Amino acid sequence: MSSTQSMVLYLMIGLMTPIGASGLLQALEVPQYAFVSGTATLRCDYDMSDTKLYSLKWYHNDTEFYRYVPTERNGPVNIGPTDIFLLHEVSRDARHVTLSLGRLTAAATGTYKCEVLAEHPSFRTKSAQAFMTVLSARLGPPEIRGVRDMYQPGDTIAVTCHHGRDSPSQPRPRLSWFIDGKEVGSSLLEVLGDDKHDGGSEALSFKVSAQQVVEAGGSVQVECRASLGPLQDRAVKTLRVKMRDNFFIISGAQGTSRVEVSFMAATMLAAARLLLGVS
Ligand SMILES: *[C@@H]1O[C@H](CO)[C@@H](O)[C@H](O)[C@H]1NC(C)=O
Repeated sequence: MSSTQSMVLYLMIGLMTPIGASGLLQALEVPQYAFVSGTATLRCDYDMSDTKLYSLKWYHNDTEFYRYVPTERNGPVNIGPTDIFLLHEVSRDARHVTLSLGRLTAAATGTYKCEVLAEHPSFRTKSAQAFMTVLSARLGPPEIRGVRDMYQPGDTIAVTCHHGRDSPSQPRPRLSWFIDGKEVGSSLLEVLGDDKHDGGSEALSFKVSAQQVVEAGGSVQVECRASLGPLQDRAVKTLRVKMRDNFFIISGAQGTSRVEVSFMAATMLAAARLLLGVS
């Protein structure tokens, strides 16, 4: 949980994107992700050492929602009406403007652009933009399909992970598989369905030979993980392979040593767990 939280913080604070040394616009800060009904802080740094600022504007999907014109004595700041977020100016000086967007809606997803315009005579313009995705609070667990109660040692096990709730307003999460906590390499994976949704696929299947599960002790835990920015959800199943009944031969032997007996007991216990379906 704490690693998820620090991840959230990292993504919520966003990255300062330096724009370059050419002046006017210095840096842009737009978080990559935010949550519906949450807030996001936007920041635009400018540098007018050679000239004066004529205007600084913010756009969402090319619709202006904030304008600062220092020469407008009666109202240098103009905040456009919008129903996709609640806008506050947090701070402003001769070098930057910081805005807070509250009560975010899913429609607040999109491109945020800061544009600065220098005064007469140059009227040079510089702009920078970044994309922010507004996520709903939960992802919904993915679904693992195709798991049988018990596999035979010669089987090839093929299981598929599908997205849970597939909200159309949200990009598709990335799917990945883990066996006993280790991520499965791409050579065992197959992407199913179209893959055009921001790198997120429709479903992800993976194949493993039952023999490998036998070597791992007869059962492994597989996990499918869906992740989208700071959000993560998972589904877990156990794959069980019927072990050969060789412990009967061992138990039939005479004069078993202590070591063999405890080995026998462990084997029988493992087998009993498998047969009873206890994980
Ligand atoms: C802005 O564009 C993004 C996609 O680029 C879209 O998801 C969002 O709904 C748009 N919002 C508005 C208010 O146009």
